[in-house]
Amino acid sequence: MAHPSKDIKQTRGTELKDKRIVLCITGSVAAVQSPEIARQLMRHGAEVFAVMSPMAQKIIHPYLMEWATGNPVVTELTGKIEHVALAGQHDDKTDLILVAPATANTISKIAAGIDDTTVTSVASTAFGSKIPIVIVPAMHESMYRHPILDENIEKLKALGVDFVGPRVEEGKAKIAETQEILEVVIRKFSASKDFAGRKILVTAGPTLEYIDPVRVITNKSSGLMGIEVTREVLLRGAEVTLIYGVGTATPPREARTVRVETTKEMHEVVVSELKSQKYDVVIATAAPVDWKPKKRYNYKVSTRKTSTLNIRLEATPKIIDVVKKICPETFLVPFKAEYDVSDKELIENAYGRLKKVKADLIVANDVARKGVGFGVKTNEIFIVNKKRKVVHVPLTTKREASRKLLNLIAKEIKQRK
Ligand SMILES: Cc1cc2nc3c(=O)[nH]c(=O)nc-3n(C[C@H](O)[C@H](O)[C@H](O)COP(=O)(O)O)c2cc1C
Repeated sequence: MAHPSKDIKQTRGTELKDKRIVLCITGSVAAVQSPEIARQLMRHGAEVFAVMSPMAQKIIHPYLMEWATGNPVVTELTGKIEHVALAGQHDDKTDLILVAPATANTISKIAAGIDDTTVTSVASTAFGSKIPIVIVPAMHESMYRHPILDENIEKLKALGVDFVGPRVEEGKAKIAETQEILEVVIRKFSASKDFAGRKILVTAGPTLEYIDPVRVITNKSSGLMGIEVTREVLLRGAEVTLIYGVGTATPPREARTVRVETTKEMHEVVVSELKSQKYDVVIATAAPVDWKPKKRYNYKVSTRKTSTLNIRLEATPKIIDVVKKICPETFLVPFKAEYDVSDKELIENAYGRLKKVKADLIVANDVARKGVGFGVKTNEIFIVNKKRKVVHVPLTTKREASRKLLNLIAKEIKQRK
């Protein structure tokens, strides 16, 4: 009978179906994240086997990893030669070795070719079997800044080992987010590289406009839709530039990100990007503030001196209007948010905008609907093409909506040729 813990396999996706992943855990407090990493890999289809260094076993108990993976955990090397069973050359060959978390100690030992623990022996064997290795470091910042560790990381990178993170925060080189680790793993196996070799420009997040030095006008966009689009195109092999406003969602490290505050800045950066290199696709998910105060006070306007303040607003420049003027060949996909309209109006208005800006596809949503739009993880979108054909993506995660959108962009680009 299969271990009951395996009932979550493939509940979130099939990208890792039939993949055997060895999750090596070393003696970092970040080992508390390892069960969740294992579970996320399983939810996307992977079979996960945990290997724990002696120090890791002092931080979390092997039972927890056995529960998480539904497989026996390697805690020592015995007559079963576990390191060869898991990382050797044979029919049931492992597809990936993921060291998460990886201590400074283990990273340096792998780089030096030392194998004196379960984890380092598995890693050494994997080199000889040409099994890909991904290392996810976690430690105090002072350990991370050790020049020899730095050299060792570079040495491993040169040997083809991938590194994820760390996130340097609060004096610590923290383990990468589970989502980021999952994405790197999926990307390693992702068969569909249908955007490989393409340059994509994504705009995301809200902008803000100043009333005075401390007060601003903005909107409630989190930037997550654009971040999910960015993650998805990266996964599919594209080179991405993200022009990101003041959103709260964290952009993926692999995207070249340019941060901006105001709509004018976003406009200027988009123009200069389009003029400096050829982008195959522009996906404009951003929610730039479209009204700005006509006058910006250069001092903090005091409510002690005036109890009312009249602000005259003027429209900001429309970023998507310039795209086709600069690059008529670029495949343009703007997003258009409406508030409390019918499906028919949503589609009509979107189609009108598509024609006006000469877009190739347009994505419309109604942010008044439950679970849609600003600040939530889900979206319901309508994608309209030049022939007025509509694809409705019912309420789903922003990631899934991005996937459907990119499938459609890929299809339209193919037909255009
Ligand atoms: C509670 C605790 C937390 C630790 N956290 C880390 C860490 O995050 N990163 C690190 O490199 N070492 C950390 N260490 C030190 C390592 O456990 C130590 O260097 C050990 O030798 C690593 O062995 P391993 O790499 O075989 O697991 C920690 C130690 C303890 C006791």
